[in-house]
Amino acid sequence: MTKKLKGLTFLVLMMLFVLVVTACSFGKSGKVEVGIVLPTKDEPRWVQDEQRFKDALKKSKYSTEILFSQGSSAKEKENVEALLNKGIKVLIITPHDGAAAASAVEAAKKEGVTVIAYDRLITDTDAVDYYVTFDSLAVGAAQAQYLVDNAKGSDVPLYLYAGAASDNNAFLFFEGAWKVLQPKIADGTFKIANSSEAEKLKDSVDLSREQLGKIIGQITTNWDANEAKNKAQTHLTAAGKELKGNVFILAPNDGTARSIADVFASDSAISSYFVTGQDAEKASIQYIIDGKQSMTVFKDVRTLVKDAMGMAVDILDGKTPDTTGSYDNGSIEVKAKQTNVIVVNKGNVKKELIDSEYYKADEFTGLK
Ligand code: BGC
Repeated sequence: MTKKLKGLTFLVLMMLFVLVVTACSFGKSGKVEVGIVLPTKDEPRWVQDEQRFKDALKKSKYSTEILFSQGSSAKEKENVEALLNKGIKVLIITPHDGAAAASAVEAAKKEGVTVIAYDRLITDTDAVDYYVTFDSLAVGAAQAQYLVDNAKGSDVPLYLYAGAASDNNAFLFFEGAWKVLQPKIADGTFKIANSSEAEKLKDSVDLSREQLGKIIGQITTNWDANEAKNKAQTHLTAAGKELKGNVFILAPNDGTARSIADVFASDSAISSYFVTGQDAEKASIQYIIDGKQSMTVFKDVRTLVKDAMGMAVDILDGKTPDTTGSYDNGSIEVKAKQTNVIVVNKGNVKKELIDSEYYKADEFTGLK
C-alpha cells in the first residue's frame, strides 16, 4: 500500500467512526418520543416528580426528555417547541398557568402530538387529550375534615389560604375544603379570621367559579412560600385578641404550610395552632414528626408517573389508554385517570411513607 492510500483508508475509517458515534448519541430511534414539561424546580414537589419519572423511565423502551418551565408560561412554550423540534409524539405537561398553556398545547396538537395534562388541567382549549390527576376535591375535603375534627367550642379562629388562581387545582382544593368547612362556619364553630369575601359567602355551601375566584383572589399564596409568609404576617398584625389563642389554619400545600406555621409559631399570642398541608414533602414530614405541622395529604407521585407513562406507551403502541372519568376544562370534557389520596399525620407517617418505601426512615429524625 502506498503512503497516500494508507492515509486515505485512515481518513475513511475515521469518518465512519464519527458517523457511528453521532448515530449512537442520538439514542434509540434518533429522536425523543415522549416530552415531559414540569412547572418549576423551585418547589420540592416537582423535583420529586422528575426523580420519580427518571426512576420509571429506566425501564422504558421509548426515549424521553424532561424540561422545566421555571414558573414562566413563555419558557413553557419554548420548551414545548424545543420538544416538537425533536419529533415528540406524546407531550406530558404540567402547566405553570392552566389557561396560558393553551397556546403551547395547540402548537403540539398541530403537529399531531397527543397531549396529556399531568396533575394540573389545561383550561379553555380542545387541545388536551388526557388528564392524569389525583382526586383534588378530596385533597381539600381531607384538609378541612382534619380541622373540623379537631375544633371544639365556638368562634374558633379560622385562617384560610389558597393556591395560585392560575392553577385549576387551587379551585378544586378550595371547593373541596369549603364544602366541609362551610357548615361549621355557618353554625358558629369557626369564625373566619382573614377573608371578608369568604365571610360574605358563609351561608352558601355551593360556590360558583366566580365566587371561589373572589375568595381565592383574597387569600392566595400564589404557591409561593414567601407570599404565604408575608400574608400570614399581615393577617396576624391585623388580628385582634379574639382571633388569636388556639387557631386553625387551612394551608393549601406543604411549602406554604411550613412558612405560615413558622409565622404563627413566632406570635406569642398564639397558644396553639392546627395547620394542614399536602404533598408529603420531606421537610413537612419532619415538621409533622416535630409537631410543627399537623397533617399532610400524601399524593403518591409514583402512581401518577406510572399512569402518565402507561398512557404514553399505549399511545405509542397504537392502543387507546384506559380512563376512569372526565374533567370539564371549560371547552371540552377531558378523559381522565384519577388517583386517590391518603391523609398523613404523626400517627401514621411510618406506615404510609416508610413502610410503603416512599421515603427511607433515616431521612428523618425522631421517627418512632
Ligand atoms: C399541585 C400540588 C402543588 C401545587 C404547587 C398543585 O397543582 O397539585 O401538589 O403543591 O400545585 O406547586
